[in-house]
Amino acid sequence: MGPMNPTPDAATPRPRRHVLILGGTSEARELAAGLVGADAGGGVRVTSSLAGRVAAPRLPVGEVRVGGFGGSEGLVCWMREHAVDVLVDATHPFAEAMSANAARAAAAAGVPLLALRRPGWAPQTGDVWHRVASLDEAADALPALGRRVFLTTGRMGLARFAHLTDLWFLVRSVDAPEGPRPPRMETLLDRGPFTLDGERALLAAHRIDVLVTKDSGAAATAPKLTAAREAGVPVVLVTRPPAPVGVETVPGPAEAVAWLRERLG
Ligand SMILES: NC(=O)c1ccc[n+]([C@@H]2O[C@H](COP(=O)([O-])OP(=O)(O)OC[C@H]3O[C@@H](n4cnc5c(N)ncnc54)[C@H](OP(=O)(O)O)[C@@H]3O)[C@@H](O)[C@H]2O)c1
Repeated sequence: MGPMNPTPDAATPRPRRHVLILGGTSEARELAAGLVGADAGGGVRVTSSLAGRVAAPRLPVGEVRVGGFGGSEGLVCWMREHAVDVLVDATHPFAEAMSANAARAAAAAGVPLLALRRPGWAPQTGDVWHRVASLDEAADALPALGRRVFLTTGRMGLARFAHLTDLWFLVRSVDAPEGPRPPRMETLLDRGPFTLDGERALLAAHRIDVLVTKDSGAAATAPKLTAAREAGVPVVLVTRPPAPVGVETVPGPAEAVAWLRERLG
């Protein structure tokens, strides 16, 4: 008679663990690469989720899904359907709605959640930063600060600046802007990383006298702050929305890989 209760042995494969990364950032791509690269035994399935805002996004390694989930309930359903073991919120610090949904969905589904949130930028000697809480406040601050604006807050919020008819804007975005926008503007389609020499040249060529940016904290887009400091150009810095409370948070992809290795064994 064979064994009644066979016990798992070394030959029994462990179930694959599924990590869902809410992405759209360079850190999320680095995390996916780190997890896939470290997973020599193929024990971890990595899926990255993108919102679908960018026409030709940079794709992470591993599996990718694109588009909204349909709120936190949709995310709960998706995680159940795809047997997600761990959720990582590696979205941009300004993706406030997605981060809130992630926190709600993780709690509802009983799935552990880790937030990967890079620190904001720190001012250095010589910086002239005006911190504001929103794009509307940034628009209010501009007329007193300059006439030729370098706007790097993304094409989505351009309508907030549409009434500033006396100012000229250089708008840098990944895809072309649509909808209401300032009447006097030039669009520069580009995406980081950007170089310090390139940013210096841009400020000089367009005679920029004020810069607007979100406090993304990204290394890839930080050279514009150095160029602005050198040129004595003031910066309107939009501060981050509050992150969901009570979510375990790490500052970078390496820390996230370490956290996940501990969790997933
Ligand atoms: N906000 C920025 O400045 C910024 C800058 C660079 C990159 N990004 C990236 O662009 C994406 C959208 O940012 P946002 O600020 O527009 O987001 P958001 O306002 O926080 O999210 C709005 C809705 O978009 C969907 N969504 C957002 N991120 C998603 C993701 N990674 N996967 C699937 N669905 C997602 C969700 O729809 P449902 O409710 O239907 O699930 C969410 O409720 C994010 O992935 C973010 O990392 C944002």
